[in-house]
Formats: sequence, C-alpha cells, structure tokens
Amino acid sequence: KEIRLFCPATIANLSCGFDVLGLCLDTIGDEMVVRKTVEKGIRITKIVGADLPFETEKNVAGVAAMTMVSVLDLDFGFEIEIYKNIKAGSGIGSSAASASGVVFGINELLGKPFSMKDLVPFAMEGEKLASGSAHADNVAPALLGGFVLIRSCNPLDIIRIESPDELYATVIHPQIELKTSDARSVLKQNVTLKQAVIQCGNLGGLISGLYTEDYDLIGRSLQDEIVEPLRSMLIPGFDSVKRKALQAGALGGGISGSGPSIFALSKGKHTAEKVATAMSKVYDEMNLKYEIHVSKI
Ligand code: HSE
Repeated sequence: KEIRLFCPATIANLSCGFDVLGLCLDTIGDEMVVRKTVEKGIRITKIVGADLPFETEKNVAGVAAMTMVSVLDLDFGFEIEIYKNIKAGSGIGSSAASASGVVFGINELLGKPFSMKDLVPFAMEGEKLASGSAHADNVAPALLGGFVLIRSCNPLDIIRIESPDELYATVIHPQIELKTSDARSVLKQNVTLKQAVIQCGNLGGLISGLYTEDYDLIGRSLQDEIVEPLRSMLIPGFDSVKRKALQAGALGGGISGSGPSIFALSKGKHTAEKVATAMSKVYDEMNLKYEIHVSKI
C-alpha cells in the first residue's frame, strides 16, 4: 500500500502574525510517496531535487514520521520518497511541507486514526529539527489548508480562519538561501508595549477583515513593526519589491515566513498577476534570479 502526496508550500507570519498565523499555498509544493513496509521503522529511500540527509533522524520528514510512529504500536514500517520543489531556506515552508506531508501520508495509510489537528505536533518535531524552533505556523496551514491561527503552542490551540473568495497571494523568491535559524537570530527578544499594542491591533484587524471580507481592512492590517525592519535588511531589494507591489494594487505584503521570499495579497487574480509583474521587474532590473508564483487562497 502506498500513497502519493502533494505537500503544499505555506506563508507564515503574514506580517502581523509572527509565529501565530500561516497560510497554505496550493499551487506550489513538493511531492512525496509514503509506502507501507513489512520491516518496522522509517526509511527514506529516495530524495530528488535537494541535497538532504537520508538518515531518518537527520531528516525533517524522518523525524516527524518517527515521532508519529513512536506513539503507535505498529508491527510494520514505512518508506518515504521525497521529490522537492520548494527550495530550502526560501521562506515558503520547505521543511514544513516535508514534515506535514509525511504525517498526513502515514495517517491516510493507517485509515486516518488522527485528525489534522492531532497531526500538527508530530510535524512540529520535524520542523524543530530544521529551524531550531517547533513553530506551527507553517505545518498547521499545510495540514489544515487556508489561513490558520496558532492561538497557543502549549497547549496547542489551532483555529482555521475563513477567508474571502477573491483573495490571491503573490510570492516572489529571490534565489538566495536564508536559514530560518539565522533569520531568527537577528530578532530582539523583547518588544515595547507600544509595539505589542500595534501588533495586537493589526492581527485583530486582519482576522476580522478575513471573516468580514473587508479587503481594505486586510490591507491596512498587513503591517509589522517588530520583525520586518530587522529581517528585511537580509533581503535584497525588499523595500522596492514591496513598494512596487503596493503601487500595482496589492492590498499589502511583507516577508514570507523568515524570508527571503516576499509575499503580497491582492483582490482578484488579475491584480495578483499585475503585482507579480511589478515585483519581478525589480529583480529583473537588479539582475537577480527569482521564482514567482500566484496562488488562489
Ligand atoms: N514564524 C517562523 C519565523 C516561520 O518567522 O521564524 C519560519 O518559516
């Protein structure tokens, strides 16, 4: 028995939701095959598209799978084939795609003993191996789809957030690698009361805007005075890309996850594509290679 999966990319943070909000992108992702084996344990048998470790305990998917299997009493095992499309260190949840994909696949092969929310902690263990922190804002949306709020990590409290029909994401990935652990190391450990108040206002505004289909409110709320000023310095042309996206009609935008990808949200496919052209032009002029995607949410 085997299953072939699509493992979606994700945008974490969405500006005002550092570590607590993420979004699933269903047009960008990896593929994976998970196969039941007579032998016990987890084996990674094939990796295409990336130079990743085959040792189960050093591989994000391997660790997530082992964590899941360790709570079950199984007299069989699984082998995993990983076909990576999402580049490591791109800021669109490469490790999360592997970690969430494998636990989803095993769950399907077992006849779905776990809910999607139950699978999140297993996937988080894989994420922890890759980034040094067990954040859920990529793995939870990869498993649940759409926008997902992580109200709390401990105990885990995950809420799927509705979003309007015409919302599109544009994501541009300048072809440099930025490790999440490095992008986390530039952050300050303390914020001021003023910054906390602004962030709460924006996050509340964004969630409210998503539910009420208030596109202007969504746009006004996509602000980040805490993380973006520190991380944007690591991303070539960040200010120009964001400015051009807004000028082309995006509602708002910012750093995708820990970067270097930059995202923008737009109302309607046509605008999202115009935004993609405007963002691309900045990197064309800088002679910088990039990948760009438009995805319906
Ligand atoms: N919330 C995490 C961070 C996401 O920004 O570090 C990493 O993809």
